[in-house]
Amino acid sequence: MNAFGGKSQSHVRYRYFAAQAEAEKLPNVARLFRAIAYSEYIQASNYHLKLGHLERIFTTSSIVTCGFGNTKKNLALAITGKEFGITEMYPPEYKGLTKSRKEKITERNLLWNYLVERLHKKLLEKVKKVIDKNHDIEPKSIHICRVCGYTRRGELPNKCPICKVTKEKFTTFT
Ligand code: FE2
Repeated sequence: MNAFGGKSQSHVRYRYFAAQAEAEKLPNVARLFRAIAYSEYIQASNYHLKLGHLERIFTTSSIVTCGFGNTKKNLALAITGKEFGITEMYPPEYKGLTKSRKEKITERNLLWNYLVERLHKKLLEKVKKVIDKNHDIEPKSIHICRVCGYTRRGELPNKCPICKVTKEKFTTFT
């Protein structure tokens, strides 16, 4: 439930970051933020699907840091958020908890989430280095796997390296 809450908030946060990048005339960074927002939505949906059995209203307890910064600050905030995801939210110990409860799909979602978060962090760090020098990044397409949220900047892969679906299951941001 909390992972669903966190991912939902992240989705909205990245859309705001994209709008801010547009306003600063950084369309390629805006594209990246829009693509990451979509990846967050895919991941939130995966958690949401697993909550259907509850058949009741639920509340989530999640914290996502937001604010009104420029793109440089937003990138730093995004990287901190990804770091939190990797170390606090989806580490192997957490996955172990779901194992003991026999929640195989949630365990799989957490693993996917962990792998995607690591990728996002690397991507954002690379982009931040360019933006810190006051340049926009190259205008490359970004491809998102609609099953697990895997994110690739540049060439469309034939197969998702995380969940193994074929390229037809990808959405491209150009
Ligand atoms: Fe995938």
